[in-house]
Amino acid sequence: MLSYLLEKRSVELPYRAPGSPGNSRQNFLSGKPIRYYRPRGSQDVRHLIEEGFQAFNAARLGEACRIFTDKMLLPEHDTTIALTIAGAMTPAGLGGCVVELMERGIVDFVISTGANLYHDLHYALNFTLHRGSPFVNDVELYEEGVIRIYDVLFPATVLLETDAYIRDFLVRSGMNDPVSTAEFHYALGRDLMEQHPGCEAYSVVAAAAAAGVPIYTSSPGDSSIGMNIAYHELMNDSRLMIDPNKDVNEVCAFILAGKKNGCVILGGGSPKNFYLQGQPTLWEVYGIPKGGNDYFIQITTDQVVWGGLSGATPAEAVSWGKVNAGVLPDTVVAYVDSTIAFPLFCEYTIASQHARRERKELVHKRDQLVAALRAEAKIAKREHPAPSETLDTMPDLERHR
Ligand SMILES: NC(=O)c1ccc[n+]([C@@H]2O[C@H](COP(=O)([O-])OP(=O)(O)OC[C@H]3O[C@@H](n4cnc5c(N)ncnc54)[C@H](O)[C@@H]3O)[C@@H](O)[C@H]2O)c1
Repeated sequence: MLSYLLEKRSVELPYRAPGSPGNSRQNFLSGKPIRYYRPRGSQDVRHLIEEGFQAFNAARLGEACRIFTDKMLLPEHDTTIALTIAGAMTPAGLGGCVVELMERGIVDFVISTGANLYHDLHYALNFTLHRGSPFVNDVELYEEGVIRIYDVLFPATVLLETDAYIRDFLVRSGMNDPVSTAEFHYALGRDLMEQHPGCEAYSVVAAAAAAGVPIYTSSPGDSSIGMNIAYHELMNDSRLMIDPNKDVNEVCAFILAGKKNGCVILGGGSPKNFYLQGQPTLWEVYGIPKGGNDYFIQITTDQVVWGGLSGATPAEAVSWGKVNAGVLPDTVVAYVDSTIAFPLFCEYTIASQHARRERKELVHKRDQLVAALRAEAKIAKREHPAPSETLDTMPDLERHR
């Protein structure tokens, strides 16, 4: 803590002009602080969704709520539930919804963009992000040392001080080997709780460590967390490195172990695919016929017509074996801004009958479940050798390869 506070003095942003004629920094940062919103379970929101959301995407959101509460959370289904997060959700204050779902055991693992995890650290470290306007002059913001994520505004020093904390943590942790992102984020979350007791109430990364929820990120280099890990290697000769193979196998192992599997996808992006590729990894790569997802809920602004994965529908995912062909009624896409839909979804869920269950604490079961995956994959390989290995033993075909 101390060292990054001390580093603060070198955080004067010398490369920026001192002040601008228009708005002052104080003006830009005068909006109310953004706080993590914790849903409490509102019967009024349930009533609104049941009675008022009757058509179009309102109705799709209602469907999503019912699939989650009436099917995915049914105790006898014991669904392993993943939440994938893209889009700037933690800067918008929605980390509190994620914290609430994890604490209640109704999200078993998370796959997020690195940006959401990095920006979550500001809350853990007690820095303030402010409500603002998207209609501001960015040149003035730049000169005043203010960062903008649409209408969320905060001082650039918040970035530098958060980075300094990450670098201190990396040294303190002593991690010096390849790790999965789940292991990395677990260590980070534990450190946050040690350095800032109680922060698990307002930090996704800390709350996940407290609740035993593994957090993965599908592109670890694509955030300031990844940038500081790169610094640690270059400047401290560290051998700490994020091993994406571990992430792929751990996620795959959770899905293999799941009695039923389902996901809530916020936005699209690489977290969506990183989760959905679990089933193809099982059948296509390991030869384990687990079948696809049983439940698929997506809340997004991404469109199907552009052909991207972010907007791909559950029906398209069937062709890849990502979603079970027979379960399309248990899949839904609501085309809504997740900053509106997700808090409503959470209020509805928490006011429902099965809104708390025993936590799976998968972060502590990673090794055991990966061992089970390896054992099953070896059996599958013995029983059904992969086509390429069969080709090696077939000289006639070999010539044509
Ligand atoms: N400092 C960092 O580490 C860092 C790194 C990358 C991005 N960022 C910041 O974080 C923000 C988030 O970036 P990101 O990488 O998480 O992903 P992103 O914002 O690029 O979004 C990815 C996906 O989510 C969808 N999406 C975005 N907003 C949505 C919304 N409100 N409702 C529904 N769907 C939505 C998009 O259509 C897309 O499919 C960026 O705007 C950027 O300012 C920071």
